[in-house]
Amino acid sequence: MFRIVLPVEELQSLWIVDEDILAENGQPLVRRGAVVTPSLKAAMLRHGIERVRVRPDEEVEGLDWTPGEILPPALAFRARRKIQELFSNTVRKRALSPQLLSEVAQQTSDVIDRLFEGDLPLFAELRSLSDFDGYTHEHCWSVLLISIALARAAQETGVIENLHYQDCLSLGLGAVLHDIGKTQLPRPLLQKAGPLDDEWKLMRLHPQKGIDLLRPYDLLMPLSRAIVAFHHERIDGGGYGLAKGHTLAEGIIPETVRIVSIADAYDAMVSARPYRRAFLPYEALDILAAEAGRQFDDRLVPLMEEIVVAFPAGSLLLLKDGTVATVRSPGDHTGKRPLPECLVVAAFSDAALRHLGASMTLESRSQVILGAVSPDDLIACIAQTQNLNPASLPPPLRENPFRLAGAIPLWDELLTHEISEHFAATPAR
Ligand SMILES: [Fe+2]
Repeated sequence: MFRIVLPVEELQSLWIVDEDILAENGQPLVRRGAVVTPSLKAAMLRHGIERVRVRPDEEVEGLDWTPGEILPPALAFRARRKIQELFSNTVRKRALSPQLLSEVAQQTSDVIDRLFEGDLPLFAELRSLSDFDGYTHEHCWSVLLISIALARAAQETGVIENLHYQDCLSLGLGAVLHDIGKTQLPRPLLQKAGPLDDEWKLMRLHPQKGIDLLRPYDLLMPLSRAIVAFHHERIDGGGYGLAKGHTLAEGIIPETVRIVSIADAYDAMVSARPYRRAFLPYEALDILAAEAGRQFDDRLVPLMEEIVVAFPAGSLLLLKDGTVATVRSPGDHTGKRPLPECLVVAAFSDAALRHLGASMTLESRSQVILGAVSPDDLIACIAQTQNLNPASLPPPLRENPFRLAGAIPLWDELLTHEISEHFAATPAR
C-alpha cells in the first residue's frame, strides 16, 4: 500500500483517507480509514480542506510502510480537538476562555508524558496540511510535538540541562500559544495569497498582541509568555519581539524559546502557504542548517535530524536520470537510519523508460534535482526549473519540461492530469 497527498478536488471515489481531519470548530470531520465518496469530498471542500493524504485501495508489490504513531490516536485526537476549540473560541470572543486554557494545559501535560515515554519520537510521515491562515490549530499542534521532541533530544544529548516538569509544561503551553496573537489580526491579512509587503508591520505585532491577550491569566508561567513574546527573535540579535523594542535584555534568548523558534520555522516550511509550496523535510532541514548560528541556536539545529526523517514515505523526487520516484520506505543519509527506498513511477526521458516500475535505493542526496509533496506540486516545481542551474537538469527536461515519456498505471493518469491542468492555468509563452 502506498500513500500520496492529493488536492481534495482530485480524489477518486473509493480511495482511503489516511489521516484524521478536524473541522474548524474542532469537531471530527473525517477519520483515518474513511472511504472517499462524492459527498465526503464536497464536505472537505466546504470546510476549506485543500489537500489530504490518501492511499489508493490497491496493493503494490514490494516495500510496505506502516506509519509509526507518535502518540496514541485517541490522545492525539483529544488534544488536537481541544487546541482547535481554544483557537476558534478566542477568534470568536476576542479573549481566551480560562476554562479552555486549563483544559488545553491538561491535554498538553498528557501529550508531554507520552512524548517522554519509549523511544525518541520520530517524525517520518509526509504532512498534507496547508497552513492557509497562519495560525491553524494544526500548526500549533505540530509545533507542540516538535518542540517537546526537540527538548527531549537536547536533554538526552546533554545540549541542555534536564527540564523540570513545570518548565516542560511551560514549554508545551508556550508552543501551543506561540502565535495566539495572530487571532487578533485581521483575517484577510493572514489569508493573503501572496507574500506580505507593508502588512509585515502589522504581522510583526502578533507577539505583543499575544502577550496582551494572555495578561489576565496569572497562572500562565513566565516561560510560556517568553515563548509568545520572543519566538521571532534571532540568535544574531535580529528578528522581532515586543512592540517596545525588538531585542531581549542583553540579547539572551532562553533555551526553551530557541527550541520553539526552530520547531515553528520547521513546521512553517513543511506546510504549504497560499504563495508557496510545502518543502519536503530534507529541504527544510537544509534551510535550518544554513541558518544555524544566525537565526537559530547551532547546538539545537543538528538535533532536528534525530527526530525528523529527511525523506518520508510519499515524497516525490525528480532525479537526475530523468525519472520520478516516490519514497516507499522512509529514510535519510545521516547514517542513523536506513537509506530511502523508492519506486520509479514516471520518466521524463525515453532513456529513463527502462527504469519504470523498478525499486531503487536513494544512495545520495545529489541524485535529487527537486522534491515535492504531491503530483501537482511536482509539476509546478518542474515548471519553475528555469530557476535551477540548467546543467543540473536531465536534457529532456531542459528542452521541454512537460514531455512525460511514460509512467506506471495510476501515476500516468495523475501526472497527465496535472500537466494538462498546469497548461490550462498557464498562458502559453
Ligand atoms: Fe509567530
